[in-house]
Amino acid sequence: MAMVCLTDFEEYAKEHLSKATWDYYAAGADECCTRDDNILAFKRIRLRPRILRDVSMSDTRTTVQGTEISFPVGIAPTAFHCLAWHEGEVATARGTEALNTCYITSTYSTCSVEEIVAAAPNGYRWFQLYVYRDRKLSEQIVHRVEGLGYKALVLTVDVPYTGKRRNDIRNQFKLPPHLKVKNFDGVFQQEASVPEDYGIPANTLDPSISWKDVYWLQSITHLPIIIKGILTKEDAELAVEHGVQGIIVSNHGGRQLDGGPASIDALTEIVDTVQGRIEIYLDGGIRTGSDVLKALALGAKCVFIGRPAVWGLAYKGEEGVREVLQILNDEFRLSMALSGCRNVAEINRNLIQLSKL
Ligand code: FNR
Repeated sequence: MAMVCLTDFEEYAKEHLSKATWDYYAAGADECCTRDDNILAFKRIRLRPRILRDVSMSDTRTTVQGTEISFPVGIAPTAFHCLAWHEGEVATARGTEALNTCYITSTYSTCSVEEIVAAAPNGYRWFQLYVYRDRKLSEQIVHRVEGLGYKALVLTVDVPYTGKRRNDIRNQFKLPPHLKVKNFDGVFQQEASVPEDYGIPANTLDPSISWKDVYWLQSITHLPIIIKGILTKEDAELAVEHGVQGIIVSNHGGRQLDGGPASIDALTEIVDTVQGRIEIYLDGGIRTGSDVLKALALGAKCVFIGRPAVWGLAYKGEEGVREVLQILNDEFRLSMALSGCRNVAEINRNLIQLSKL
């Protein structure tokens, strides 16, 4: 079957993964309203294309945190890639390196950060961090990734507790025994009596995390800090005031609070509040090149894909990730040209039919 668009990979993954694995990747919280709205919200936005602007040459390159990437789409942090493909995150890292864009490695990777870096030594990477009750653990992983050449820390702030994902509960989702949260192999002494929460003992994450922990994180690292999971202008302003270097507008793919906004619907108020003081990125519901164009037009510097990368992995590992990224790159380039944009600097809010928002 010819793979033409990202949903072709979704269909393939649904057909070939085990039910429990598919359900885990697809899951949203509760009734999945926010998960589904992430996609529908993009489809409600209409563009205002410009014409006769000589689009014979086009350039999709941009920068994030001062580093050039080939186009404004990176890989969002998602857990447990070995469930989708035997090489797991090593394959994701290679596929992303080949397209010269950014790969945010999840804390919950099933390959270690050392394995990931060794597999794709020239890849541009950020590391996604959760804060544990045991701060020493978080501190150790921060120092490890800093030493390995990761270029930023992505602090995920929308998981004080894990959202309620109905199918995972029904399936009693657990990592199979041969897979581990590799970065913490041997760190957690899992006792049979302690319930497991997605590969680590329940209650390991610290729900008391607050803004003062941003200062704590700044005190233990020199890396730029990007906060992932902001959906309001109030929190965006606080992020700027706390001196972080970026924001990822995200609702965790609709897996946490059901009933929150689609991430693209939250973007504008955040962009208007931040006024260019720090970079703003977005994830959630990106499935086509025109979705990327819309997010950039509304002020995102770059977007990230979660599930589509995993579908690519499930299809053909490294090659599948490459194909997913290449299709998005081609679609984005075409959408740019068809709307009269020759480079990303020409993408702005005039491209959006604001009266329809
Ligand atoms: C996630 N996401 C996520 N986020 C994070 O900060 N750390 C993580 O470990 C994970 N794990 C994870 C697993 C799976 C299976 C999914 C689907 C998502 C959220 C992820 O980074 C991102 O916010 C969403 O996936 C973006 O939405 P789309 O692109 O999947 O629609």
